[in-house]
Amino acid sequence: MEYAIECHQVYKKFGDHTVLRDLNINIPRGQITTILGFSGAGKSTLLKHILGLLSPSSGEIKVLGQDLSQMDDLQLREFRRHFGMLFQYAALFDSMSTFENIAFPLKEFTKLKKNEIKDKVEGLIDAVGLQIESTHKLPSELSGGMRKRVGLARALALEPDIILYDEPTTGLDPITTKMVNNLILETSDRNKNKKLTSIIISHDVQATLRISDHVAFLEKGHILEYHPTETFRELDNPTIRKFLDL
Ligand SMILES: Nc1ncnc2c1ncn2[C@@H]1O[C@H](COP(=O)(O)OP(=O)(O)O)[C@@H](O)[C@H]1O
Ligand SMILES: [Mg+2]
Repeated sequence: MEYAIECHQVYKKFGDHTVLRDLNINIPRGQITTILGFSGAGKSTLLKHILGLLSPSSGEIKVLGQDLSQMDDLQLREFRRHFGMLFQYAALFDSMSTFENIAFPLKEFTKLKKNEIKDKVEGLIDAVGLQIESTHKLPSELSGGMRKRVGLARALALEPDIILYDEPTTGLDPITTKMVNNLILETSDRNKNKKLTSIIISHDVQATLRISDHVAFLEKGHILEYHPTETFRELDNPTIRKFLDL
């Protein structure tokens, strides 16, 4: 099995506060893995470690086979191009159109020519199921679901190896939630040949179980359970049952 992320005996302490403890997880490439946990479990802290924004107090983290602790700041910044991120509120630039939002990383990080950027953006607009009419609209003129699509197109622009979804459906209505989940699944399927790895951080159990290949449960900074989704659903660990039945 080829792994996108390998965490081995990771500890993170802030002063006397141990936030990650003996955390072990290997996340396979080309699949969808969800990390579940109550608020305060350490999900965002783990995400920051995966991105190399925080480094562990002890233990090892490899991303795409590379040990992050061996990289300096410049190498880390370069390395982050392997990641796409989609946040809870899509985090679009309010004063930029759909086109400009999606073109932004291409202008910033590539040497593509104007017409190449245009082709690429149009391809992305199509891939995430946006209508061509939304190209010149501002985020404020789009629905919540459409904004997520723009955010996803922007996250995919640099053809990342790993896409991180932080609470992608929190605060959305059921219909938009379903749409965003379908979008995550479609994006994963469409990029299977490129082995795109999708990692979802969420406390929305029902929404994510349907689309995930693997599920991990993080409790107080430790991976309590980590299984293929079918196995995870049947666990009789009381903490997880409580979480699943919420
Ligand atoms: N920079 C920090 N300094 C001290 N404590 C922190 C810091 N970042 C996070 N924590 C603590 O780590 C714990 C986990 O936080 P977090 O990773 O944000 O949890 P989650 O995303 O699962 O809600 C919380 O108790 C939080 O207060
Ligand atoms: Mg968090």
